[in-house]
Amino acid sequence: MSQPFRSADIRQAFIDFFISKQHTQVSSSSLIPHNDPTLLFTNAGMNQFKETFLGMEPRDYTRAVTSQKCVRAGGKHNDLDNVGYTARHHTFFEMLGNFSFGDYFKQAGIEYIWEFLTSDKWLAIDKDRLYVTIYETDDEAFEIWNKNIGIPSERIIRIGDNKGAPYASDNFWTMGDTGPCGPCTEVFYDHGADIEGGLPGTPEEDGDRYIEIWNCVFMQFNRQKDGTLLPLPAPSVDTGMGLERISAIMQGVHGNYEIDLFVHLMDAAADILEINNEQQSSLKVIADHIRAVAFLIADGVTPSNEGRGYVLRRVIRRAVRHGNKLGADSEFFYKMVAPLVAEMGSAYPELQDKQSVIESAIQKEEAQFAKTLAQGLRLLASELEGLQDGDTLSGEAAFKLYDTYGFPLDLTADITRERGIAIDEAEFDEHMQAQRERARDAGKFDVDYSSVIQVETPTTFIGYEQLEEDGVTIDALYQDGNPADSLTEGMEGVVVLDRTPFYAEGGGQVGELGEIRTASGVFEVQDTKKIWSGDYPLWCRHHGRYQH
Ligand code: ALA
Repeated sequence: MSQPFRSADIRQAFIDFFISKQHTQVSSSSLIPHNDPTLLFTNAGMNQFKETFLGMEPRDYTRAVTSQKCVRAGGKHNDLDNVGYTARHHTFFEMLGNFSFGDYFKQAGIEYIWEFLTSDKWLAIDKDRLYVTIYETDDEAFEIWNKNIGIPSERIIRIGDNKGAPYASDNFWTMGDTGPCGPCTEVFYDHGADIEGGLPGTPEEDGDRYIEIWNCVFMQFNRQKDGTLLPLPAPSVDTGMGLERISAIMQGVHGNYEIDLFVHLMDAAADILEINNEQQSSLKVIADHIRAVAFLIADGVTPSNEGRGYVLRRVIRRAVRHGNKLGADSEFFYKMVAPLVAEMGSAYPELQDKQSVIESAIQKEEAQFAKTLAQGLRLLASELEGLQDGDTLSGEAAFKLYDTYGFPLDLTADITRERGIAIDEAEFDEHMQAQRERARDAGKFDVDYSSVIQVETPTTFIGYEQLEEDGVTIDALYQDGNPADSLTEGMEGVVVLDRTPFYAEGGGQVGELGEIRTASGVFEVQDTKKIWSGDYPLWCRHHGRYQH
């Protein structure tokens, strides 16, 4: 092939290479793992093939190649806090991978890697820049690298169980506590003596000089809960190479944020914010975060206060804060969707298809956060007055920012870290716990609303005729058993309507669930009850949580 320098060309070259080796191209799976409660987000190319490795889901091919969307934020692998501070952390990245399901094993697995990386026809990377690691006892892999490929033994590094338990090693890959696993061999690239860092296995290994570019797992076992390793039906191969890292090498740069794709996204962010792109870390954050956010929304996640939706919310809010730092005084982040679609839309058509949905979801979240961001920042600034590098912000202040101003803890931490200030997380957790208990108590619905609710007319029940109704009036709001003028973000409460299609608990039927949408947000109805006056139902009350 001609010199592949653009990320898009490298992605395509990888797929073409493995198709030429009889692999079937398989589309990236969704970022929301199906049938796998152990995973928050898809975080490796092999996730969609887990059952196939285990022999439980046969496919009509035994070799596959993918470019897989991955998110490492919020779950077990959480890189969110590092984005903007390092050269190679991302919340979203693309993993290029080839897979053998009981077809080829160690020899062809290693030979393919070497051919793609070093052959003049493909990436033509200088062999003298490459090092490999193998699992300490994997003599077979050693022989293949040394004898078949010709790598000198001093460039083959054996890594043992360096993570404190049997088979806990940088060179023994496990998907999770259970599931397919096996020893692995990794290829490292030397970015040069002017970059700090040491070889794998040395104390300086975390530096930026020697970067792992490709991991090739020899899938052999199914790890059980008690740690025993049962053999897989057939030895298999699972590999993963980060597109951003290999692009950096092919483009002769040392950091992922200097590759074409990120330069374009950072230029776009700078244009939108009307500043120059001087590789500010906040621009890196915005360019990284738009990818995670847009792809997550395209795969069906919406910002919320729980689970995946809360990770999404945290990522959006972190990006918005960094835009604010660069001078944004109105919604800007949603404008990053168009340049992202221009960069990645042809490889991932879902971005094109859902562009307007993604834009409006982001803009809505931005608009909502804008209401409290400035106030929260003012509160934080006053709390930080007098604190110095090495000091700690109280957990109570961090909790107030969370609870009242919608600042996720990692957002507050991102700001305090800029001044070398830590957060008393134990105290924050205590406040969170107390709030959860309050919410649980409120969730028991044991407040006696019959003496509290004061409404002139009973609610009309219209649920026999219809399931939805427009133009309904809110007659009253209550929070913690008291009348309230409004509910704020995340607050639990009770809504009384003039008419309702929600069936209330009674006659053996549980109260109906659903949503009450207003101009400013959504009240998630978690239960519907009625209040009785003698035998006569007076008011339906909808119990739930309000979100913008
Ligand atoms: N599954 C392996 C990894 O994620 C290739 O590194």
